[in-house]
Amino acid sequence: MAVRRAIQGIDGPDPLSQLLGDAQYIADDGLATAAYLSLALGKPLLLEGAPGVGKTEAAKAIASVLGRELVRLQCYEGIDAAASMYEWNFPRQMLAIRQAGDDYVNLYDDRFLIARPILQALEAPRDRVLLIDEIDRADHEFEAFLLEFLSDFTLSIPERGTVRAEEPPVVILTSNRTRELHEALRRRCIYHWIGYPSPELEQRIVMMRASTVAEDTARRVVAAVNALRAEPLAKPPGVAETVEWAEAATLLNRGGGSWPRAFARAIGVVLKDQDDLDYIAPRIDALLSESAA
Ligand SMILES: Nc1ncnc2c1ncn2[C@@H]1O[C@H](COP(=O)(O)OP(=O)(O)O)[C@@H](O)[C@H]1O
Ligand SMILES: [Mg+2]
Repeated sequence: MAVRRAIQGIDGPDPLSQLLGDAQYIADDGLATAAYLSLALGKPLLLEGAPGVGKTEAAKAIASVLGRELVRLQCYEGIDAAASMYEWNFPRQMLAIRQAGDDYVNLYDDRFLIARPILQALEAPRDRVLLIDEIDRADHEFEAFLLEFLSDFTLSIPERGTVRAEEPPVVILTSNRTRELHEALRRRCIYHWIGYPSPELEQRIVMMRASTVAEDTARRVVAAVNALRAEPLAKPPGVAETVEWAEAATLLNRGGGSWPRAFARAIGVVLKDQDDLDYIAPRIDALLSESAA
């Protein structure tokens, strides 16, 4: 089987994992394998998981490893073709008509075409990685449209004809799973669920991402965050919150003090929901002393 261009020189999940590490992203074996297969087989990678587990960051790291520009399509309710594919620059078209007087103006010239992420990826599939972020926020119609795009990587522009990618672009989709995605969409992709990292892995992430945090602090903060995640919270902390909590507690604890106290004081960087804060407040001391044990 021919090796896809994107993966040339990367011999398997382990080397890919190494390269991702160089790009400041720690991938476990499951993610490295899914990403490798997606690149090698030329199929889109679908990453699903709770907010803050590192989905968007994984896409950035993969683009960086491939030496390609990341083109990000952030999905939202009501996102449509104009925002995702292309748009005609109406004000510029009007201006051109006015300036031309009686002369002919080609209103569908390149200079009036605004390429949005999907068209950008199609135009230069070898230089770009397309990230379709938080697809679960878009509605079903948009998902159906995406499915079509992902099956043939063409885009029809009525005034211009069909744009076809020279080769299938590298595409990464993410979902926070606020709703189920269509079976058909999932079938088209290599699927990987990203869970919260293991304590060992999250500790490495903290050491890598936080500016000045001692190893012991990283261990404590990871234990405390895991204790919080075991509570019935509306917004459980993601990895970014772990990193920030470690940094904040380190700041507050400068000159010595007690770690449980520093963590408790910095709770606002890790819980950002009033109900969650109210729920945790009376439990925080017990929770921190248990996780310190
Ligand atoms: N495996 C990882 N390696 C390095 N940093 C990570 C990892 N997972 C998460 N992070 C950190 O957590 C932050 C949040 O991750 P993000 O990709 O925005 O989450 P998601 O897109 O899943 O909501 C990132 O900016 C990064 O600092
Ligand atoms: Mg994200």
